[in-house]
Amino acid sequence: MKVLVIGSGGREHALCCKLSQSRILEKLYAVPGNAGIARIAECISLDYERNFSSLADFVRKERIDFTIVGPEVPLVNGIVDYFEKRGLFVFGPCKKAACLEGSKVFAKRFMKKYGIPTADFQVFSDSEKAVEYIEKKEKSVVVKADGLAGGKGALVTSSKQEAVDAVKLIMEKRAFGNSGKSVVIEDRLSGREISFFAITDGKSVKPLVSSQDHKAIYDGDRGPNTGGMGAYSPAPIHPSLYKKIMRRIVLPTLNGMEKEKRTYRGVLYVGLMIEDEQPKVLEFNVRFGDPETQVTFPRLRNDLLEVLFAVQGGTLDRINLEWFSRAAVCVVLASGGYPDKYETGKQIKGLENLAGVKGIFPFCAGVRKEGDRLLTDGGRVLGIAATGKNLRRAIRKAYQVAEKIQFEGLYYRTDIGFKGLRP
Ligand code: AMP
Ligand code: GLY
Repeated sequence: MKVLVIGSGGREHALCCKLSQSRILEKLYAVPGNAGIARIAECISLDYERNFSSLADFVRKERIDFTIVGPEVPLVNGIVDYFEKRGLFVFGPCKKAACLEGSKVFAKRFMKKYGIPTADFQVFSDSEKAVEYIEKKEKSVVVKADGLAGGKGALVTSSKQEAVDAVKLIMEKRAFGNSGKSVVIEDRLSGREISFFAITDGKSVKPLVSSQDHKAIYDGDRGPNTGGMGAYSPAPIHPSLYKKIMRRIVLPTLNGMEKEKRTYRGVLYVGLMIEDEQPKVLEFNVRFGDPETQVTFPRLRNDLLEVLFAVQGGTLDRINLEWFSRAAVCVVLASGGYPDKYETGKQIKGLENLAGVKGIFPFCAGVRKEGDRLLTDGGRVLGIAATGKNLRRAIRKAYQVAEKIQFEGLYYRTDIGFKGLRP
């Protein structure tokens, strides 16, 4: 089978790595890919966020059998609908289903309608009314831009002033462009956060192994949120909580989407806050997580291509997902200054001898090649994933490798996975 992966981050590198081991893979392509992906796939630079016609032409011309979409933007913009209209096989939800991530207003109203536990909320398209609401509110709130905002559109506030500033930033200064035409203002929840992933072909549903990312930039979960500074798997979730999440959240969500004629197919990512063992939904994403993917696929025993193809083909019931018991950790190496301003074009050293080392997966995210040199090309530069017999060993291994890598301004958290260690 000829396969195309869309996207350019660490998640897509992890996808490509696992797909490259498939016994049914004939050739792997990536649009646009990155310097790491280029070692295992043919990378082509095409617009994949909006202009689907040249992408579909390319897929036709190369006789690509199956396209796997990594990031949310093309999904929310309807790439799956476009490809399917042209008779092309593609992994991911259609536009009407991708709304779960594309519009927070849609997602919150949907949850309310179907009784899916989430924080209480109000929707506003007028900033003055939003401010009035905040003035009257007793509890702390989170202000969320309705549309996509690259993971930065949720502002967690601790005072009325902060909440008012958040409304102004999103709705008046339009910090996230048109995504800020409306906002959701919801109660701020406390507890511990977990990410939950399930794949579905629209009929059967299978949860993936547990994993957890670390969103804040500094150790101890301090500082602003980022796309994710690292992840580990397994995460400490009691099996009864796992079942509760399936029963109270994942299944009602998929059934509700079916009722709304928005049948969901692909991977559903549910961000949850757990308080007193009661899960509440913080957000839905309609794609694999980054960097959760980097710790999930190294634990998967199955042929990933067979699994994803079964999701597309409606035969997921025939697949039995199997996992290695070993743990996995991914430490993200970022550019100094990220998630605010940072410089790129710094030479990366120390990656040379890592290819093929057992249990080590140096995933590239913001990396480009110039001649023989690898240069930083984004905020999150590399994700150093490692597997080990247990979480402690995986953490040690990932940090031993991370220490060997150098580029100017390199920054990483030093506590990735610690939350998952038993005291
Ligand atoms: P979201 O983009 O909705 O996942 O929000 C990003 C991050 O903001 C989450 O991972 C949480 O850490 C935090 N967050 C979002 N909603 C809430 C909430 N209602 N209460 C507390 N924290 C939240
Ligand atoms: N790990 C967070 C995300 O993928 O959005």
